Amino acid sequence: MEKVEHDTTEHLNRGRRRFLTAATTVVGVGIVGTVAVPMVASLEPTAAEEAAAATTFNLAPVEPGMQVTIPWQKKPVIIVNRTPEMLATLKEVEAKGVLKDPDCNVPQQPPYCKNMYRARQPEWLVMVRICNHLCCIPHYRPKKASVTPSWLGGFHCPCHGSMYDLSGRVMKGSPAPHNMAVPEYEFSKDGKTVTITKMYPKAHLC
Ligand code: FES
Repeated sequence: MEKVEHDTTEHLNRGRRRFLTAATTVVGVGIVGTVAVPMVASLEPTAAEEAAAATTFNLAPVEPGMQVTIPWQKKPVIIVNRTPEMLATLKEVEAKGVLKDPDCNVPQQPPYCKNMYRARQPEWLVMVRICNHLCCIPHYRPKKASVTPSWLGGFHCPCHGSMYDLSGRVMKGSPAPHNMAVPEYEFSKDGKTVTITKMYPKAHLC
């Protein structure tokens, strides 16, 4: 499985076209049960699409440190298997005081993900990979010092420079106002799959 993301440096309309093309490869690898949704140029799904949008993804191929980005309701959703080292950076970022909303008080995630991991299980990040500023698709940059000398890993938006940590929490000085959105999802009992059920209604995409 490919280890890094399918990035784009352009605005969403253009970026989404590229994403949808690239994502077909990933879908073939991981999705085990989904309902086909027409890919049209709109971020807002119809009610029928929303109701039919539950998508189940097989987590087995996503080894620690890896990510996949899959299409879901015409949006890119990133699933990251974070290592203990990656998780440790979340507290480090908090300690620096550089996050706009470190406690996730803005409801950009379901209540069960209102924690520093922004997740049901710390290692698994499941997040809509859309910059909260003007809808670009941020680059996934997990390596330290890969964006700035003090960079601990996270997401960097190429459009206007918004920066997020490895939980998608936006940093001060970024034009993006909020953390990236986390959808509603659940794991299977054996933990081998995740089912993304719907957008969290209070979350603001961009
Ligand atoms: S769209 Fe991401 S910083 Fe503007």
